[in-house]
Amino acid sequence: MTIRGFRGELLSVSRDPHRHPDAIRHEPDGLLVVEDGIIVARGDHATLADRWPGLAIEPLPGLIVPGFIDAHVHYAQMDHIASHGEQLLDWLDRHIFPAEKAFADRAHAQRTAAVFLDELLRNGTTSALVFPTVHAHSVDALFDAALDRKMRLLSGKVLMDLGPEGLADTIDSSRDESETLIRRWRGRGRLGYAVTPRFALTSSDAQLHVAGALLADHPDVLLHTHLAENLRECAAVAGRFPQALDYLDAYDRFGLVGDRSVFAHGVHLPDRACARLAESGAGIATCPSSNLFLGSGFFDFGQADAHGVRIGIGTDVGAGTSFSLLHTAGLAYQAALSRHYPLDPFRALYLATAGSAALLHIADRVGGLEPGQEADFVVLDSESTPLLARRTRNAPLADRLFALQILGDDRAVARTYIMGDCAWERAGSVRAAS
Ligand code: GUN
Ligand code: ZN
Repeated sequence: MTIRGFRGELLSVSRDPHRHPDAIRHEPDGLLVVEDGIIVARGDHATLADRWPGLAIEPLPGLIVPGFIDAHVHYAQMDHIASHGEQLLDWLDRHIFPAEKAFADRAHAQRTAAVFLDELLRNGTTSALVFPTVHAHSVDALFDAALDRKMRLLSGKVLMDLGPEGLADTIDSSRDESETLIRRWRGRGRLGYAVTPRFALTSSDAQLHVAGALLADHPDVLLHTHLAENLRECAAVAGRFPQALDYLDAYDRFGLVGDRSVFAHGVHLPDRACARLAESGAGIATCPSSNLFLGSGFFDFGQADAHGVRIGIGTDVGAGTSFSLLHTAGLAYQAALSRHYPLDPFRALYLATAGSAALLHIADRVGGLEPGQEADFVVLDSESTPLLARRTRNAPLADRLFALQILGDDRAVARTYIMGDCAWERAGSVRAAS
């Protein structure tokens, strides 16, 4: 048994402050007590320390927040981030499908998975819902690498029987491989499975049925796919599913819309679809850097809030342009403002932590720095660049947090902890303890 204390400035937002303003929890001089990777106590250092005589306490200079949770990211696309020139459908054909074909090679998948997870940790991301490729071994490679790092991660083989040659599965192989993977990985480490049809256009009706049946047979798995990202995509979906009321309804007809469903983007949604998302408990992973990069549009926070849609946030690398959820939160602010919604920095922090955790059904385990949760956390350094230091010096908490989101990125992540152990440390990040 190991028990340790971490002393520093603590901040978490465990419920949506838009509806629960009292959910913002801040201890300027706080103490986090961690036993065998689990948080057992949290509070003001002055009041809590007496209750733990003899506790070894490590001072952590910086702002300690829950580890970031990326609600939508593609590991196979990391080496094709920043590929120039096209919107979604042409970008997939020209850049992404060729990149994903290379994952037929298991060793390539294993090498990329390791680099990808290290990149997440470098950016302060401790959990993620990840798109791999159509290849079953791309899931094994990712889950093995996550087990090595003790990370809480969710993923599942991509289903795409209408995909391009060399990247298409079949109705039978997608069912059988998904079943095998669910059985192989269930209950191991901190992993979770997500049935992952790529999007409506790359699966036949029969394969969408298979996805619905997998969900019905395995109530513990998630559904993870793309929804209403790009206008040309939406028009193609409307042409393919003439009976559907809208894009979401095309999924709904196959049993794919429920409280364990995570839809990336949702940029172009009619009110009916938002109402149905809210009613079903399904949620959107908004991906602002991707939406900007591919010219897809801007997520409408006002519309989503009017209907009570659950929201998390994702980087969507390789369409997304950064692994940093700090930077992505800053872009979410700018995207929201273009639709006249001034996203609050505490709400942005919520989206990147407990909000995404709720979407991924892991909020009982991570995202809030609450006793009983796993000790995944990040130490942020608001002096990591000269400009950030100038902007945040003597600034109130809300201004510091906002500046970290607008000006910060991986450079502002001094340390990343997984289950109470330091999993990544920026060179030179340990300043003299005060
Ligand atoms: N829609 C279908 N596939 C993809 C993908 O790989 N990335 C994004 N951003 N959207 C998609
Ligand atoms: Zn995506």
